[in-house]
Amino acid sequence: MKRHLISAADLSRDDAVLILDTAEEMARVADRPIKKLPTLRGRTVVNLFFEDSTRTRISFEAAAKRLSADVINFSAKGSSVSKGESLKDTALTLEAMGADAVVIRHHDSGAPYRLANSGWIEGAVVNAGDGTHEHPTQALLDAFTMRRRLVGPDAGLGRDLDGRRITIVGDVLHSRVARSNVHLLTTLGAQVTLVAPPTLVPIGVEHWPCEVSYDLDAVLPKSDAVMMLRVQRERMNAAFFPTEREYARRYGLDSERMARMPEHAIVMHPGPMNRGMEITAEVADSPRCTAVEQVANGVSIRMAVLYLLLGGAEPAVAGNRTTGEQ
Ligand code: NCD
Repeated sequence: MKRHLISAADLSRDDAVLILDTAEEMARVADRPIKKLPTLRGRTVVNLFFEDSTRTRISFEAAAKRLSADVINFSAKGSSVSKGESLKDTALTLEAMGADAVVIRHHDSGAPYRLANSGWIEGAVVNAGDGTHEHPTQALLDAFTMRRRLVGPDAGLGRDLDGRRITIVGDVLHSRVARSNVHLLTTLGAQVTLVAPPTLVPIGVEHWPCEVSYDLDAVLPKSDAVMMLRVQRERMNAAFFPTEREYARRYGLDSERMARMPEHAIVMHPGPMNRGMEITAEVADSPRCTAVEQVANGVSIRMAVLYLLLGGAEPAVAGNRTTGEQ
């Protein structure tokens, strides 16, 4: 594995499977009465958030704490960034504090790449979402959720997503989640179809390793998982569709549409959800929707990523494989 996690495209199939398998071990720890491992004791993880976040920030914090790392949470609001401090000076401050890993979310696409290749900091950089570019740990937790739901955690060899048909629906243009998922899911052998209004399909999508459709109803019966994306109003500087009602009618998932999906198929959403827009409350609250499960799985995935990047030479979970229950 590389030293940083910036893009899902950087992950080979072996890397991705290693992270998913390690996350599976981490998930078993979550079922124990004491959920903490000593693996990253004495290491410092900084969460550097320049953009709003609920799930991702809490999830990285929980992951680092469960591995016994020291965690420093930095949010741009209320910091010297609002006085105009640059990314460089912020990074140098973190370096002075001895950060072993920096988890960064930034409104500019490319900011994590800049941080990783600047020489400003020594530690590992993890991209927690940059602009409309990528969100690799979200794609990993999505793949983990699909693997558990569609293949099963104990399926043994071939536990990846070979031949599974995944449909990603909605505001693909502004979605770093969609970009990272297209890369990772195809690496894991799945077939991805994007469904969106033509105005929300990115330029150059013909070079992406996926299909594009404008007809949700036609694609649903052929899907093993349907991932609904949030309509990202904060990134829209123009009108991309006539009205919310029109959008919901053509591209929203309601119970009637969900009934077109095969019985085993799941509905996913990275959150935050616009209930009534891309997904109805009824679908969001149905047992087929994995949104809450995705959040829980996110902690296991981020534990695995931090553990693998910070290079624990010893097994992450001593109990299961070597020295007996911990
Ligand atoms: C996503 C994000 O921030 O990119 N959410 C998340 O990380 N769980 C998707 C979104 O904001 O719609």
